[in-house]
This record gives sequence, structure tokens and C-alpha cells, in this order.
Amino acid sequence: MKKILVTGGLGFIGSHTVVELQNKGFEVVIIDNLSNTTIDVLGQITEITGTKPDFHQIDLRIKNDVKDFFKNNHVDGIIHFAAYKAVGESMGEPLEYYENNFNSLIYLLQEMRDRKLDNFIFSSSCTVYGQADKLPITEEAPVKAAESVYGNTKQVGEEIIKDTSKAHNINAIALRYFNPIGGHPSIKIGELPVGVPQNLIPFITQTAAGMREELSVFGNDYPTKDGTAVRDYIDVVDLARAHIAALRRLIDKKNKKSFEYFNVGSGNGSSVLEIINTFEKVNNIKLNYKIVGRREGDVVVAFADTAIANKELNWKTEISLEKTLETAWKWQLKQTV
Ligand code: UD1
Repeated sequence: MKKILVTGGLGFIGSHTVVELQNKGFEVVIIDNLSNTTIDVLGQITEITGTKPDFHQIDLRIKNDVKDFFKNNHVDGIIHFAAYKAVGESMGEPLEYYENNFNSLIYLLQEMRDRKLDNFIFSSSCTVYGQADKLPITEEAPVKAAESVYGNTKQVGEEIIKDTSKAHNINAIALRYFNPIGGHPSIKIGELPVGVPQNLIPFITQTAAGMREELSVFGNDYPTKDGTAVRDYIDVVDLARAHIAALRRLIDKKNKKSFEYFNVGSGNGSSVLEIINTFEKVNNIKLNYKIVGRREGDVVVAFADTAIANKELNWKTEISLEKTLETAWKWQLKQTV
């Protein structure tokens, strides 16, 4: 049985990936510092899969703790989620973001180099494309100057991995996520935003639940079908499965280069108003919202061309937007009872 280290394994995407790994027969060891989640998620994963993953509360910024972990644990692959991810916050706290997102990455890669470990999967983001000139966005689209510190940590993170994979024979894949939403169909794990949500779906569900008065729709004067911005929303379970597919590609040595990157999206562009309408329809609920000005830094349209990921990873999305928005609402109701 292959043993996989999942850093940030108690976070939103990490926890769903741990479930899928265990379902597929992988042994999982989690590192998480609980900075943006709670230990309860470990119990929830155990309830869903029937297996308690090995858990280490380690802060990856502490090099000696990372070293100690690898001294005592051999792993066959690493999926690295642990990172700060709030765009707005990153602009006010650049040093915290660079320290956390780079040091953790570098310490993990140094251990892989020193111990001759292989198979590294990195959480990247479609933010590396900025406002792409052509749609849908293929992997050939150029990486544009980052608009945020967070985005820069993803761009430079990819470069660190690329250089390392070449110099030290480490095979790696970066997955460039579009907009991950939803939760596990068991309603036992999902997104747990701290404070006022910045992302669209948790803001919608909290508004529907009465925790927020109304949703602000940022701009309806974009050159899109209904004037609101368009994104590619992907169910977090579909996204989690893309990690298993990428891991298999590396373990089976099917990769074509030591460092590869793939777009992970649904391939469908949905406007903010379409999301609101679909949410209202599938959950039979009316949402309070108003149109306000554009949000600074927002791109107009972003959705993925998934052809390369579909073919090379032998993976595709299976969960509809309707189902995802139903799950997101059920998850919200469970938080507020
Ligand atoms: C942002 C980040 C992205 C990051 C992702 C997940 C940018 C450019 N991108 O994506 O790198 O991976 O978050 O953390 O910052 N919206 C509203 N009202 C709201 C909230 C959002 O109208 O209250 C709109 C936004 O303007 C946007 C869409 O909903 O058009 C999606 O927003 P959001 O969920 O924040 O994701 P992104 O901005 O696409």
C-alpha cells in the first residue's frame, strides 16, 4: 500500500482529497497546523471512510519539525495543500504569505531531495493566467504578472518546483484549480470560512441562512452574457479526484516531463447571476442580493479548457453545478442548526 503525505489535509480541499485517497486504498498521513481548520475534521474523515488517518500537528515553517517528521516517516508521495490562500489578506501581509507559502514548500522539497523521495503534487491556481487573452484557457496560455501576493506565491511556487524537479529528479505536477466549491455528499466535511467569507458560494449560503443581510454582486457592467463576471466552478470532490489521477500518473511513471501542470476546472463558465439563479432554483430559496460596483482585481471571465487534463490524467468532472449548490446549502444548514 502506498503511503501519501497530505499537508493541509484537514483543510477544505485537503480533507476531501484525504477521503478520496483512503477510498482508493492509499494510506494517508496528514500534516496540518490547524491554522485555518479544526481537529474535528479528522473525526469526520474517519466517519466517512472508516479509517483514521495518521495525523501530525506540525507547522511546516519550523524546519526542524519537518526534518523530524521525515526521519520517522517514509512516504511514497506528497500532496501539498498547506498554504495561506486569501487574496485580500495577502496584500496586507506579504511577508507572512511569502514566509509561510515558500518556506513550507522549500523544506518539503529539501527533504525529498535529501531522502530521494518522489511524486509531488502542488496546489496551484488559475490565477497564474490573470485575464487570459483567449477563452477557454488552455495550459498554453501565458502566465501573467501576478495581481496579488497570493497569486505570486503560486507562480513562484511552480518555478521553485520546476527548477527542483529538474535538478534533483523529483517528478511533480501542479494542478491549477479554477473555483472549487461544494462539499462532501455525506455533509460531514465542507468549507469552513473564518469570519466574513470573501468567496461567492459561502457568502451566498450564509446570506440564505440569514447570517448576512444581503449578497453584493460585484459589477453588472462586464462584457459578458448578463454583465456579471464569469468563472469556472468545480465541485471539490471532482477536484479531489483530480489529485488521485495526478498521483497515479506519477506513481505509474506516465508523466512526460519531470514537471507538468494541468488546468482543473469543469470547463463551464457561469456568471454570478447564473450561480444565484441556480442556487435559488435547486434549493427553492430566495436570495437577498444587490448589484454594487466591481471588486478591484477581479478578472472578467475565466474558464478552463479541460481537454489536456481529461486526456493526460484520464479524469473528468462528474458532479453537476446543481448538485454542488445543493450540497453547499445542506452543508450550510448543518453549520447553523
Ligand atoms: C479568488 C482568487 C483565486 C482564488 C479563489 C479562491 C482572484 C483574482 N482570484 O477567485 O486566486 O484561488 O478566490 O480563494 O482574486 N463575487 C460577488 N460577491 C461576493 C463574492 C464574489 O459578486 O460577495 C463574485 C466575484 O466578483 C467573482 C465571483 O463572484 O466574479 C467569484 O468570486 P470568488 O469566489 O471570490 O472567486 P475568484 O475571485 O474567482
